Amino acid sequence: MAKKLWGTRFSKETNSLTDRFTSSIAFDERLAKYDILGSIAHAQMLGKQKIIPLKDSQKIVQGLNVLLQEVNSGKFKFDPAAEDIHSNIQELLVKKIGAPAHKLHTARSRNDQIALDIRMYLLSEIEALMQFITELQKAIIKFAEHNFSVIIPGYTHLQVAQCVLLAHHLLAYVEGLERDKQRLADAKKRINSMPLGAGAFSGTGLNIDRNFVKIKLGFGNLTANSIDSVSDRDFIIEVLADLAILSVHLSRIAEDLILWSTKEFNFIDIDFSFCTGSSIMPHKKNPDILELIRGSVGQIQGNLSSVLILMKGLPSSYNRDLQLDKPPLFASVDTLKNILEIFMALFGNIVIEHEAIASKVKDESLFSVDLVEYLIKQGLAYRQAHDIVGRMVKGCLDKGRRISDLNLAQLKKYSPHFTLGVRKILNAQASVALKKSYGSTNPGLVRKQLAVWKKRLK
Ligand code: ARG
Repeated sequence: MAKKLWGTRFSKETNSLTDRFTSSIAFDERLAKYDILGSIAHAQMLGKQKIIPLKDSQKIVQGLNVLLQEVNSGKFKFDPAAEDIHSNIQELLVKKIGAPAHKLHTARSRNDQIALDIRMYLLSEIEALMQFITELQKAIIKFAEHNFSVIIPGYTHLQVAQCVLLAHHLLAYVEGLERDKQRLADAKKRINSMPLGAGAFSGTGLNIDRNFVKIKLGFGNLTANSIDSVSDRDFIIEVLADLAILSVHLSRIAEDLILWSTKEFNFIDIDFSFCTGSSIMPHKKNPDILELIRGSVGQIQGNLSSVLILMKGLPSSYNRDLQLDKPPLFASVDTLKNILEIFMALFGNIVIEHEAIASKVKDESLFSVDLVEYLIKQGLAYRQAHDIVGRMVKGCLDKGRRISDLNLAQLKKYSPHFTLGVRKILNAQASVALKKSYGSTNPGLVRKQLAVWKKRLK
């Protein structure tokens, strides 16, 4: 094991099992950049406040900048034997600049350091995730625009219900994703507080300037209680919850597309480059990407549970348990970035099965509500109209007839309010055009929504 930050109090070397078990370098190495940026601001503050000599502060900053370049260019030497990323960086700094490096940790603890690193990591990753969501929204909108004239049968209870524009259905996804983005943006407000200065948990007796560090690091606020600063991870739980909701949305989109790509639905064809085959059944073309997206949600929900349970009943202030918040957080962030990226690409590789859809929307039961509303417009009460159309649908089903084939006398038997003109509303185009309410599937309104989204996502 590398040199400990706390070795002298110990009368013995730690057991190698202890080292292996307690080390976090395997996963917190990804925080290197933020750890160094935090240290640079901290060292500058120590120099400015004359807590350490200015020239030492400058040496530290120089050394840290070299390490930062190494991190950014992939040359940084991560030490698998380090206890954590903080000690790894500290040790390399000592190697680079010698004695002044030992002054960096003045008025600081790894407890406030990790609280800072994880906040900085999240502020940056949330930005990236929001960008990814926007890109997916754009891909969906492009697909919707490209297939604007397509009308599909919509479902409730997974039973054929009413006709809707495919674009309308797709814009429902865009709405949900927008709320996901808003939730993440909102979480940022609570992450945007700078915790350095909390020390181990009680603050410091040295004359530090927390505000200076806050401004240097671009934070909006300071954490106001040193115990809270090192103790709480509610902001991680919040992000994990936001990501869990996002993943639910993505899994439902995946499920729609899986259903639509089946022979039974046959609404879409997914390009071969985004499908996989079967090792035994030569005919198969499987939507494995979508299934893996759907399946990943288990992991993402689990990560939220994992940190909730980790935090439950933990005594106040810092406890080493908190180290274990990171693997689930990183896993959720990584998985979702992967999912969002492949989903964007997938939407560019879906083809609509126009003929199959057109034959499906010939099912006249899709227009039953339009018939009810037709009668309401003739002055009938809703209940009466519903009863009449119910009888009509049943009669046609029993006799194997189409409503549009009924002659005037047959129509009048159901209601004297029917004329042959009713045939005109028994098609998918008429059905969507008849919708009028704001937010409905009316093509004019959906077009407007598309335009609104395009402008908004620019
Ligand atoms: N690796 C720790 C974490 O992730 C930070 C270090 C604090 N360690 C300590 N012994 N106080 O929370």
